[in-house]
Amino acid sequence: MKVINVVGARPNFMKIAPIIDAMNLRSEIEHLLVHTGQHYGQKMSQAFFDDLGLPKPDIDLGVGSGSHAVQTAGIMVAFEQVLLEHKPDWVIVVGDVNSTMACTITAKKLNVKVAHVEAGLRSRDMTMPEEINRLCTDVLVDALFTTDHFADENLIQEGVPQDKIHFVGNVMIDTLLKHRDKAQDLGTFERFGLEPGQYVAMTMHRPGNVDEKSTLQGILEVLKRLSHDIPIFFPIHPRTAKMISQFGLDDYVSTIPKDGKKLGPGVWVTDPLGYLDFLNVNMHSRLVLTDSGGLQEETTVLGIPCVTMRPNTERPITCEMGTNLIVGNDPQLIESAVCKILAGGIGEHRIPPKWDGKVGQRIVAKLIELGV
Ligand code: UD1
Repeated sequence: MKVINVVGARPNFMKIAPIIDAMNLRSEIEHLLVHTGQHYGQKMSQAFFDDLGLPKPDIDLGVGSGSHAVQTAGIMVAFEQVLLEHKPDWVIVVGDVNSTMACTITAKKLNVKVAHVEAGLRSRDMTMPEEINRLCTDVLVDALFTTDHFADENLIQEGVPQDKIHFVGNVMIDTLLKHRDKAQDLGTFERFGLEPGQYVAMTMHRPGNVDEKSTLQGILEVLKRLSHDIPIFFPIHPRTAKMISQFGLDDYVSTIPKDGKKLGPGVWVTDPLGYLDFLNVNMHSRLVLTDSGGLQEETTVLGIPCVTMRPNTERPITCEMGTNLIVGNDPQLIESAVCKILAGGIGEHRIPPKWDGKVGQRIVAKLIELGV
């Protein structure tokens, strides 16, 4: 069986790694790795390949940044040539980024079978580009690998035949469990002048939070206020860095001094971190403040409280069982959620079923069973 595994953006790398590991153990599968180049460079791409031990991509489409249409079309044009040359039996796509959707459409139009890992997640928020990517992908693919019961229910409700849906668990958690011990003692937070359990780890990059000046300014104002109670450590996504500078909001954030001295009040920004460094920062934090999807899941497994600055989540299992609070981007709601956690924590939480480190193996076993 010949398989093409696709990655494009930062959150894809930790999802494909366990699948490649599992494929390497099975002689039935010959596999190639295609990187679309949606994310690129050392910090957004290469650092993850290094940390996760991912093989160098067999093919790099080098598409880069652009508007949605430009980026999606660029990936499709380049990926079509790859499919025509290599003629795979299956294409595996993960997550919900533009690369996921673009490669799915291209493969299906050439009658190549596609499997989607992390299928069925729905925010029901059509202003999120990711929701459009999820819907387009799931309606087309031949195998839908799901993380939880909500995803299965969404797909059934949308009329996806039951025999195409495979509940395997959360593959990104395979990567977390594999690297947890190594990340534990890396000393990353100390290097930045942080003390264990005494800082907020923050990420933010959603267009809904950073692309409008008033929204971004409102969030930065509340962060600055909160940082008098607890320092905020903010490895900053390139989109957010660009918008802060474009809107002239640089005064709200401070750059971390290189001397490693203890950080006081402030919203402390630094360049994006690699996988292991961020895992270290995450697991030793008091709480995580984010608009990411994956972090809602990682904090659930680590037992770290998570305040999600979005009006909705496609990952409700992290609220039902985990440590996640959805608060939107209203500054007052963000402030009261953070203060509540600082005052008392989050109560009972559990790890969802099949988030157990064996998901890559389940996916590959099922693919082999499905055959060419
Ligand atoms: C993308 C995904 C989003 C995911 C996020 C994780 C889509 C629609 N969005 O959003 O789901 O949560 O990745 O990071 O697929 N840039 C760089 N270097 C890079 C990549 C981007 O500087 O390696 C800058 C460029 O200015 C670019 C901007 O960041 O225009 C946005 O990048 P893009 O890939 O379009 O979307 P993300 O916001 O990263």
